[in-house]
Amino acid sequence: MRRLAFINEKGGSCKTTLCVHTAAWLATGRSQRILLADLDTQGHAGKSLGVDVRGLAPTVHEWLLGEAPFEAVVRRTPVPGLDLLPANKALAALPVALAPHADRATRLAARLAEVPAGRYDAVLIDSPPSRSLVTENVLAAADAVVVPVALTYLALDGCAEILESLEALRAARGSAPGLGLVVPALYRKTQLADEILEKLRERFPDQLSRTVLGWSVKVDEAQSHGRTVFEHAPRSPGAVALAEIADEILVRVLRG
Ligand SMILES: Nc1ncnc2c1ncn2[C@@H]1O[C@H](COP(=O)(O)OP(=O)(O)OP(=O)(O)O)[C@@H](O)[C@H]1O
Ligand SMILES: [Mg+2]
Repeated sequence: MRRLAFINEKGGSCKTTLCVHTAAWLATGRSQRILLADLDTQGHAGKSLGVDVRGLAPTVHEWLLGEAPFEAVVRRTPVPGLDLLPANKALAALPVALAPHADRATRLAARLAEVPAGRYDAVLIDSPPSRSLVTENVLAAADAVVVPVALTYLALDGCAEILESLEALRAARGSAPGLGLVVPALYRKTQLADEILEKLRERFPDQLSRTVLGWSVKVDEAQSHGRTVFEHAPRSPGAVALAEIADEILVRVLRG
């Protein structure tokens, strides 16, 4: 069971969009059994699949604390083959609750190791913006990371920070997840976006995705209806790009 985390400390860089759509495409289009683990207090992974996560209990929070078993937390989603470990605001209390425990940064890895072998082909982890104990857990649990990069001026800065985090982890622990794929996102044709894209190509010649996720109103619209864009507007450019990127992730990262 491969573990793939979608990370970028910069907020609004399409982590959730890419994570949820990759999970949905691999489950429905590629017959993969996927577990989608939401590790963000915003609960957007569940919300964008139409799951009402407000006030939901138990969630990933209780599971990480050992207060609820996996079976009590995991739930089916409207997408066939896709299960969800939901999160909500309860997760905000995690750092304080885990502070006294020596294994606080590796709880997620340990809990995922308890998931019955063979039940899923892959776990896709949606992570929060900013660095925290939760992101430490995500990085300790993942085999590889996918980094979506919104094509804005500060994007390159965010990328540099991720590489530094992975390097620091490797120095401290002797291992760190590999950089699986860097995905340019929210592209709109401007000179600045093209310059940033060119810099990303120079910097990540082997890890940059071939497909760029362009800005597409259908993606935003789909989320407001609690559905994936594959259901909402399957022929839209956003749906086509998200499916292509999911296939790149399958071939180059999960099977690579
Ligand atoms: N291709 C797209 N075209 C238009 N809007 C998009 C596209 N992809 C994502 N969005 C919108 O951009 C916003 C940010 O996307 P998303 O929530 O995936 O980012 P995030 O990195 O998960 O954010 P956060 O850091 O807050 O978790 C959302 O409102 C989403 O609907
Ligand atoms: Mg998000």
